[in-house]
Amino acid sequence: MALHKIGIIMNGVTGRMGTNQHLIRSILAIRNQGGVCLPNGDLILPDPILVGRNEGKLQALAEAHDVPRWSTDLEQCLADPYNQIYFDSQTTDRRAESIKKAIAAGKHIYCEKPTASDLTGSLELARLAREAGVKNGVVQDKLFLPGLLKLKRLVDSGFFGRILSVQMEFGYWVFEGDWQPGQRPSWNYRKEDGGGMILDMFPHWRYVLDNLFGEVRAVSCIAATHIPKRVDEQGKTYDCTAEDAAYATFELEGGIIAHVNSSWAVRVNREDLLTIQVDGTEGSAVAGLRDCKVQHRVNTPKPVWNPDIPNPINFQDQWQQVPDNQLFDNAFKVQWELFLKHVVCDAAFPWDLLEGAKGTQLAELGLVSWRERRWVDLPQLQI
Ligand SMILES: NC(=O)c1ccc[n+]([C@@H]2O[C@H](COP(=O)([O-])OP(=O)(O)OC[C@H]3O[C@@H](n4cnc5c(N)ncnc54)[C@H](O)[C@@H]3O)[C@@H](O)[C@H]2O)c1
Repeated sequence: MALHKIGIIMNGVTGRMGTNQHLIRSILAIRNQGGVCLPNGDLILPDPILVGRNEGKLQALAEAHDVPRWSTDLEQCLADPYNQIYFDSQTTDRRAESIKKAIAAGKHIYCEKPTASDLTGSLELARLAREAGVKNGVVQDKLFLPGLLKLKRLVDSGFFGRILSVQMEFGYWVFEGDWQPGQRPSWNYRKEDGGGMILDMFPHWRYVLDNLFGEVRAVSCIAATHIPKRVDEQGKTYDCTAEDAAYATFELEGGIIAHVNSSWAVRVNREDLLTIQVDGTEGSAVAGLRDCKVQHRVNTPKPVWNPDIPNPINFQDQWQQVPDNQLFDNAFKVQWELFLKHVVCDAAFPWDLLEGAKGTQLAELGLVSWRERRWVDLPQLQI
């Protein structure tokens, strides 16, 4: 049995996603379980080096989790051949520049979405990585959520018949920061800092729709800044220059219509923070983050419109839960394990920087649609 120790530069690791999802729930969880086991019995053991600007924060994070390696010097980390992977979860507007340096240093790349602030930037990264021959991947965590894995199971089984439409409701109330602190970073609400619902969430919707139902072919989108002022982490009031809600319709391959509402200014009256309803000729499903319920055509009730009497049907009772039938691990960790196997033994990993660029494309064209008040077709991407 061989042990493959892999140095991973983790840049932006003091942030919300970097600390919780990528360091604690993925890399450290993989270390705690003894590594990633390969079919031949070999083990991959990730060895992170925490990178950022703030020495105090890095040291505190490293000490809290018993991570011996941390640094404020990205160049030095890149120069060390022991570090084979560069991971980036910095704020979106800083990502492309750092990834370019890492590609030039010959590192394999794994990063958060969106990969860059615009399509040109995202495509450039995909091209540079291909030319340099480095392996590359982009976080597409929603694909590994139990609720979406169950949906995929339904699609693959042919449960839906012909899929007609998809309705996604995403969001919750993000506090303005005055009488209760906001639960998301303030840069999310400033365009000049890379914020905005469309750039943030459309990359997710692109890979969810493409992978589960069919490639997105066209977009129509309207967005709004519903809350014009918020209070930041320092207690200072700022102007919200980015949209905090987007209402979009997507046309998918095969004529499927997907409607997706995304809002940080909505109060949740549904079963989860993200719900996906799929209607097909043979059956329908509603998935949340973990659960998924179905209604087959033979179980479909026959409502008759009559507001003069109390509603005789309890619609919620007509659905059946899809069973787990497997153990589900953290979505980010599952994808990290696949990427580590991709790096060490060339296992398949289709979610690369070109796939990531498709997300940036949908965001960019969603913004065009909103600005120009029209449907916009998505051309096939080439690098
Ligand atoms: N996959 C997902 O579900 C998901 C969810 C939320 C955010 N994200 C993405 O993750 C990224 C980070 O989001 P977050 O919510 O963790 O943000 P955050 O503000 O909590 O963290 C950002 C990180 O970038 C660092 N950073 C910011 N400015 C910097 C600078 N000038 N120099 C060096 N480092 C700097 C911060 O120190 C911090 O470590 C974003 O690109 C976002 O789109 C992904």
